[in-house]
Amino acid sequence: MFSKAAIILACASAAFANVFITSPTAATTFSGGRTATIRWQDDGSAPTLKDFGPAQISIYVGNALQQTRLQTINASVDVSTTSELTFTPDASIGPNSSEYFIRVESLALKDAAQPQFPALAFSAKFTCVHLPCLTLRSPLIVPAVWIA
Ligand SMILES: *[C@@H]1O[C@H](CO)[C@@H](O)[C@H](O)[C@H]1NC(C)=O
Ligand SMILES: *[C@@H]1O[C@H](CO)[C@@H](O)[C@H](O)[C@H]1NC(C)=O
Repeated sequence: MFSKAAIILACASAAFANVFITSPTAATTFSGGRTATIRWQDDGSAPTLKDFGPAQISIYVGNALQQTRLQTINASVDVSTTSELTFTPDASIGPNSSEYFIRVESLALKDAAQPQFPALAFSAKFTCVHLPCLTLRSPLIVPAVWIA
């Protein structure tokens, strides 16, 4: 089960943290169905954001060995010319949890050590909750005209 993909993910956050995600952090709570913002900056280490270039940005769950994509936020955004994305977390991706994280996967740049894998960057694990939708419900109104 210990594939090369698993091994590279284990060290990805340390080795490829050049896309430094400033939001969300471990203290962030996103709410399903409400607008949220992801922000990042260059952390000054190689490769640069320009090298990283166009990337897919998604919400994932998982650990160093296995990661599952839950929602693609943007399939191709150039991280060197854009520094934030506003999006709406999909309320159906999963339960209230503090185990969600953002994964940034370069579309062109490969990992320097293992070029068969893309360069990756990760956010801290953040919380995503579903708010009760009480305000969205209204009593069923029976149209009186139909029985007139
Ligand atoms: C992805 O991000 C780019 C740059 O901000 C934007 O132009 C594009 O509309 C976004 N695509 C989606 C699907 O949000
Ligand atoms: C999820 O979190 C929200 C906000 O804290 C809370 O109102 C809701 O009851 C929680 N849902 C469940 C199933 O725990």
